[in-house]
Amino acid sequence: MLTKHLAQVLDTLNMKALLIWAVLLNFYKLLKTGDCTSTHDQVLSIQVTTHQQADIVRNMSSQYETVLWSPASPEHIRADTEVHLFVPANNLGTVTDLLKTHHLIYQVLLDNTEELIEMQTRNESSDPRSSASYYERYHSLEDIYYWINKTAQEHPDMVKVILIGSSYEKRPLYVLKLSGRQERAEKRAIWIDCGIHAREWISPAFCLWFVQYSLNFYNLNNDITEMLNSMDIYVLPVMNPDGYKYTWTTNRMWRKNRSLSKESNCVGTDLNRNFDANWCTKGASNRPCDEIYCGQFPESEPEAEAVANFLRSHKDSVKLYLSIHSYGQMLLFPYSCSNEEVPNHAELFELVQEAAMKIRRHYRNNYKYGASAKTIYLAPGGSDDWAYNLGIHYSFTFELEDRGRYGFLLPPSFISKACNEALLALKSIALRVIQKTQPQP
Ligand code: ARG
Ligand code: ZN
Repeated sequence: MLTKHLAQVLDTLNMKALLIWAVLLNFYKLLKTGDCTSTHDQVLSIQVTTHQQADIVRNMSSQYETVLWSPASPEHIRADTEVHLFVPANNLGTVTDLLKTHHLIYQVLLDNTEELIEMQTRNESSDPRSSASYYERYHSLEDIYYWINKTAQEHPDMVKVILIGSSYEKRPLYVLKLSGRQERAEKRAIWIDCGIHAREWISPAFCLWFVQYSLNFYNLNNDITEMLNSMDIYVLPVMNPDGYKYTWTTNRMWRKNRSLSKESNCVGTDLNRNFDANWCTKGASNRPCDEIYCGQFPESEPEAEAVANFLRSHKDSVKLYLSIHSYGQMLLFPYSCSNEEVPNHAELFELVQEAAMKIRRHYRNNYKYGASAKTIYLAPGGSDDWAYNLGIHYSFTFELEDRGRYGFLLPPSFISKACNEALLALKSIALRVIQKTQPQP
């Protein structure tokens, strides 16, 4: 009897000890990782200073289940690079341990990615608190298709919808052709594409913003009136619909298109590496699993081919090419595919310099500007370089807001500022190009 009681007491004590031990162990773990909220996916900003550290972070981003936000590919990580890395909760401990072991300084950029994603995808028609307009929200692919149709129907005098091809998964690629009401013979044109990269949601949002602005302010705002009277404007709101759809349904961090590869299980080609401009040289990858995979051959992807075909058949009228990306706040021009300067480098430099100055003055925001390869990194196979070589000598890529505070997860409340800045830059450049390309009588 006594022994039985004793055994029970001992048992309870054991249990208690075990419990205390477990609590202590967890506490130790917490201390060790310095991370009390590891139930959240995070985005880390990592300061890489030495070559050795660059190696570590490069390997880390490919070994662990993480997503590199910036730069676009591990090979661009060098000494003196600020790296933005998305780390799912289950890998946070391992990743931060590794960083600490190698004396890498890092800070948590975002700890609330799930919340931000929820904010970006919230269907606001069911949320009476929000008074934000349609253009200050992000929209699903279905919404955007619906919007394209409706916009064309409501403005039959100024908008035409052109089907330029279809995506790998057979979704239509629609271009909106905007025209002023003044008939002019031999009209010049501007091309704008958005959403080459699926996760850069502010980009399609800009295309929608721009179309709406053009239609609302034609004959009210002098700049847009002059633009639409002298040029037709072709707008492709979502160049990568399959990828965009995928970011809404499955993986918010997806960048490439969704084509299946013959030699690998990995999905997707980087459409901005698939054009025929020093295709698949340094700065692109021939490995299908990489984020900057160049595809099987130039224009192997139906999305890139459709755009290239359209521009080839309109190359005499299109004077200005513009591709909208995010993030980083940069106004870029060719080349991306080599360190060479284009013949009209000085002229293009002046255009982006002036545009950046206007953004600084009006919105107190700094944009970097310059030739792509020197301003970010070598990136062959880009649409802007290809368009330039086709003969469209005013060719630009804009990287919209921000600089990494929210990165791809820019909250809806920032859409209007990001778009107004880009609009200002676009107007500034377009009006100059109109002067420069005036047809000789
Ligand atoms: N950040 C974008 C990318 O990695 C654009 C880089 C500039 N390259 C270009 N071809 N414009 O594709
Ligand atoms: Zn991009």
